[in-house]
Amino acid sequence: MDYSIVTAPLDELHCDCMIVGVYQDRQLSPSAMALNNSFNGLIKNIVNRGDLSGKNGETVLINAVPGNNIQRILLVGLGENKPLSAKNYKKALLAAVNSLKKPKIESLVCCLAESEVIDRDWQWKSRHIIETFNDAVYQFTELKSDKETESNIQRISIVAPEAELALAQSGLLQGKAIAEGMELTKRLGDLPGNTCTPTYLAEQALALGQKYPSLAVKILEEADMAALGMGALLSVSRGSRQPAKFIILDYQCGEKNAKPIVLIGKGLTFDAGGISLKQAPGMDEMKYDMCGGATVLGTMLAAAQMQLKLNIIGLIPSSENMPDGDANKPGDILTSMAGKTIEVLNTDAEGRLLLCDSLTYAERYNPDVVIDMATLTGACLVALGRVASGLLGNDDALCDELAEAGEIANDSLWRLPLWEEYQEQLKSNFADMANVGGKDAGTITAACFLSRFAEKFRWAHLDIAGTAWRTGQNKGATGRPVPLLSQYLLNRAHTDKA
Ligand code: BES
Ligand code: MN
Ligand code: ZN
Repeated sequence: MDYSIVTAPLDELHCDCMIVGVYQDRQLSPSAMALNNSFNGLIKNIVNRGDLSGKNGETVLINAVPGNNIQRILLVGLGENKPLSAKNYKKALLAAVNSLKKPKIESLVCCLAESEVIDRDWQWKSRHIIETFNDAVYQFTELKSDKETESNIQRISIVAPEAELALAQSGLLQGKAIAEGMELTKRLGDLPGNTCTPTYLAEQALALGQKYPSLAVKILEEADMAALGMGALLSVSRGSRQPAKFIILDYQCGEKNAKPIVLIGKGLTFDAGGISLKQAPGMDEMKYDMCGGATVLGTMLAAAQMQLKLNIIGLIPSSENMPDGDANKPGDILTSMAGKTIEVLNTDAEGRLLLCDSLTYAERYNPDVVIDMATLTGACLVALGRVASGLLGNDDALCDELAEAGEIANDSLWRLPLWEEYQEQLKSNFADMANVGGKDAGTITAACFLSRFAEKFRWAHLDIAGTAWRTGQNKGATGRPVPLLSQYLLNRAHTDKA
C-alpha cells in the first residue's frame, strides 16, 4: 500500500474515490462543502433527499460524479457537528474503508482528518487513517489457490492543510511503521502451526534483522538453553518434535549507557495442552499461542522503522506444547533457570514455564523495565472479553504509562490486582511452587507465578488471550498489542530525550 499526504485543492486531485464527512442534521464538513460547490449542489441534494442522516458510521457511495478527476465520492456520517471522540473517529474511518472494498477502487483520497477529534492532533489523525485502513484491507490469502483479495485499494492520500503538513507527515511515518508491524504480527499469527514452527519464527526474526541492520538477531538452540539451565522452558519442548528456539533481538539506538526496555513474547507455535490435552473444539486457534512473540517482532519492526532513539531487547521463547512419550507429566517437578523448583500440576499451563526462564534471562540486560506479553490464560477472556488486554505488574508508574499508551493507541488494557493473598494459591506440597493456582482468578495467579521471577526489575505483564485474535466468522489475528507497545515506545523516546 502506498500512502501520502496532499495539500492541493480537492478539485486538482485524481482518484477512484474521495472520502468526505457529513455531520448529523445535514451539515457538511468543509471538504463535503467544497465538493458540493464544485459539483453544483450534488452533495446537498443527496443529503436533503434523506439518503444519509449523518449518524456516525453511516456511508453513501456516490457512484457517478461529473468530470474526470474524481470517479466516486464516499459520504461518511460523523455524528454530531462537534469534536469527535477518538473512538467515533476510528469508527467512521472503519466504516469508510469497509464500504470501499470494491474491485474497481484502487486509489483513495481521504478528507476525514479535517474533523476535529478531542485531544488529538494531526499527527494522531493521519496515523490512525493509515493504521485503520491497512488493518481493514489485510487478508490472509497466502495459502489459498485463489489469492484475490476483497479490496483492491493500493493508494491512499490524506488531505491536510499546509499548516499541519509537518504533523501529518510524521503521523504518516508512524502509521506506516505501526501498520507494517501489525501486518507482520497478523501474518505470523494466521500462519498454521505446521508452517509457523519455532524454527520458522527464528528464521523470520533473522530475516527481519537482514532488512533492518539496526536489529541484531541471535538464536539460542536447545543446547544453549540447557547450558543456561532453562529447565522450565526445555521441559515444555521435550514433548515436541520441533526444537525450541530462544530468539533474541537487540536494538541499540538509544544513549550508550541507557538501560534497555526488554520485551518478552510467548512464542508457543501450537498449544495442544500436552498430556493435559485440550478438548477438540477450537483447538485450531491454539496456533495463535505465539502471538506474544509475533507482537515482539512486529513492535521491533515498527521501532526500527521509526528509528526510535531507545535501547530495546526482544526475547521470544518459542516451542510447541504437545502430548508425547517424553512430554511433561502432571506431578513432574522442574528446576527453572532461577533455581526455583516447579511442580507441574497441569501441563497446559506451559506459557508461564517459557516466560519464567525468559524473565530470568532478562536480568542480564540490567533492564529499565521488562514487559512480557502472552496469550496466557483463558480466564482473561472470561474477565475482560475481547476488548481489553489484561495488565498486571509490580510497578504502578509503568502500569499507568502502559494503560495510557493503550488509550491513545486505541488498544486498551485493564489492570488486575497482584495482591500477595493470591500468591497462596500457588503453594505446592512438593516443590517451591505449583504451575497452576486452581480455578479461581486464573489470570492473576498466572501473573503471580511470573512475578516470582521478576523481583529484580520493574515489570508488567500483558495477558492478550482475548485480544490477539478474533474467533468465529472473522477468525484472524488482530495485530494487537503492537499499537499499544509502539505508542509506549514513542512516548518513551520522547520523554527519555527530554
Ligand atoms: N494458551 C493457553 C491460554 C488460552 C486459552 C488463550 C484459550 C486463549 C484461549 C494457555 O497455555 C493455557 O492453556 N492456559 C490454561 C491455564 C490453566 C491450565 C491454569 C487455561 O487458560 O486454561
Ligand atoms: Mn496451554
Ligand atoms: Zn498456551
